[in-house]
Amino acid sequence: AEYLLCKKDFHNKKVLISAGPTIEKIDPVRFISNRSSGKMGYELSREFACRGAEVTLVSGPVNLPPPSLVKKIISVESAIDMEKAIATHSENSDIIIMTAAVSDFRIKNYSTQKIKKDNIPTLVLEKNPDILKELGKKKSKNQILIGFAAETQNHKENAIKKLKEKNLDMIIVNDVSRKDIGFESDENEIIVYSDGEEYRLEKNNKRIIAAGIVDYIYNKFF
Ligand code: CTP
Ligand code: CA
Repeated sequence: AEYLLCKKDFHNKKVLISAGPTIEKIDPVRFISNRSSGKMGYELSREFACRGAEVTLVSGPVNLPPPSLVKKIISVESAIDMEKAIATHSENSDIIIMTAAVSDFRIKNYSTQKIKKDNIPTLVLEKNPDILKELGKKKSKNQILIGFAAETQNHKENAIKKLKEKNLDMIIVNDVSRKDIGFESDENEIIVYSDGEEYRLEKNNKRIIAAGIVDYIYNKFF
């Protein structure tokens, strides 16, 4: 029944979405990660699927039910796992949206045995691949590539820098310094940047924000 509620303006479009955090293991029982509930990516997946798109969702560990009508959900843990899952599905996707809070670093000195608490470890980190930047390098002609930017300051400047450096068609800024929106919140407020254009979606439920983003994508690119 839910399917009937949406217009089918993304019928036959293939949409690839990443969501949630990645986790980078320290030992079998410990990890480092990023704050992310996955809600924004799940709501986007749900909205696209309702509007007729064929959605593939690549998700880090989250506490959310699978979004309705999304047929393919691939669960991953680390950034490297996410990179592989995305690479498998990126080529024939019409739209790719990275909402995931990818860990920028992974543990270089992973311990296969549980570290005992009196042996306080020194963590050695190494850089993870920038999944979105790699997608930007091999972007095909009609592919639409969209990123999120998590910022605490200089939002516009930082976002536009990411838009250019990653060869994106559009970037959506989250103000992660605000306590009332983002992360575990059900609400968000965002600004979209694409070639010189700025578009603001005022604070609202993430489901409504997702619908606003998908409307914007339709009007801008289709
Ligand atoms: N991203 C990615 N792979 C990474 C890091 C980030 O694909 N290793 C993606 C995110 O999913 C997001 C975009 O890049 O869509 C921007 O992520 P963000 O953390 O805001 O920016 P970074 O480029 O990682 O830079 P920094 O954290 O230093 O601000
Ligand atoms: Ca980052």
